[in-house]
Amino acid sequence: MENAGDGIRVSAGNWSFGGETASKFDDHVSKSVPLYGEGHNLICDVSDFFVKSDSVVYEIGCSTGTLTYKLARHNQAKQGASFVGIDIEPNMIAAAQKKREEREFASLNTTFVAGDVLEQELEPADMIVCYYTVQFIHPARRQDLIDKLYRTLNWGGGLLLFEKVRGADARFQDILTSLYTDYKLRMGYSPDDIIAKSRSLKGILEPFSTQGNYDLLKRAGFVDINTIQKYICFEGFLAIK
Ligand SMILES: C[S@@+](CC[C@H](N)C(=O)[O-])C[C@H]1O[C@@H](n2cnc3c(N)ncnc32)[C@H](O)[C@@H]1O
Repeated sequence: MENAGDGIRVSAGNWSFGGETASKFDDHVSKSVPLYGEGHNLICDVSDFFVKSDSVVYEIGCSTGTLTYKLARHNQAKQGASFVGIDIEPNMIAAAQKKREEREFASLNTTFVAGDVLEQELEPADMIVCYYTVQFIHPARRQDLIDKLYRTLNWGGGLLLFEKVRGADARFQDILTSLYTDYKLRMGYSPDDIIAKSRSLKGILEPFSTQGNYDLLKRAGFVDINTIQKYICFEGFLAIK
C-alpha cells in the first residue's frame, strides 16, 4: 500500500470511496479538486433558476453531503423543496447523516440514500447535480445513467454535470496533466503522493473529453448545454431539458 496524501492508503488500480476514505474525504477532495468550494457556490447560485418551493433536487454521488447541505441551506426560503443525496458507499452516507447532528443542518429538508444511482427509483426533479461523480461510473453504464437523469428531470429542469475532462488531443492532454501536477504540488502533495493517487485511479476514474461529455448529453436528449466553469481539466456543464 502507498500513501495518496491526507492519510489515504491505496494500491494500483484500487482507489475506493469505501472504508476509511469517508473520514478523510473532505480534506482530500477540497485540496485535490481545483475550485471545489467555488464550484459548490456556483451551483447554489444556478439553483436560483431551477428550484421552486415544491422541487425535488438530487445530488448523485453526494459523498459526505457537503454540497447537498449547502444547496438546502441556500434554498431554505423555498420551504417544501427537498434535497436528496445518493451515494453508493454506506460510510459516505453515514458521514453525511452524522453532519445533521450539527445544529446548522438539523432543520434543513435533506435525505440521504445509500445505493447505486442506476438501481434507485428517482422522483421527477427540477435539478440534478453530479459533482465529479459520473467520471467514476464505468463508461459502459454512463450513457444509461445520463439517459435516466434526462428522463427524471421535469421539462425546463437543469442537470449540473461537473467532470474531470481529457484534452482535445494528445498535446493538450500532456499540457493539462502537467498543469494539474503543478497544482497538486502547490497544494502540498509530494511527488510520491501524486504518483500513488494516479496509479490507484487506473481503470477507476475514466474522464471523457469536453466533446465526449457534450455527446453523452446530446444522445440523452439534451439540446441546450453550456459550460459554466472550467479550470485546467475540471469542467462544469449546465444542461437544460
Ligand atoms: C468525487 S466524489 C463526489 C464529491 C461530492 N459530490 C462533493 O461535492 O463533495 C464521487 C462520489 O460518487 C460516488 N459514486 C460512485 N459511483 C456511484 C454510483 N453508481 N451511485 C452513487 N454514487 C456513486 C462515490 O462513492 C463517491 O462518494
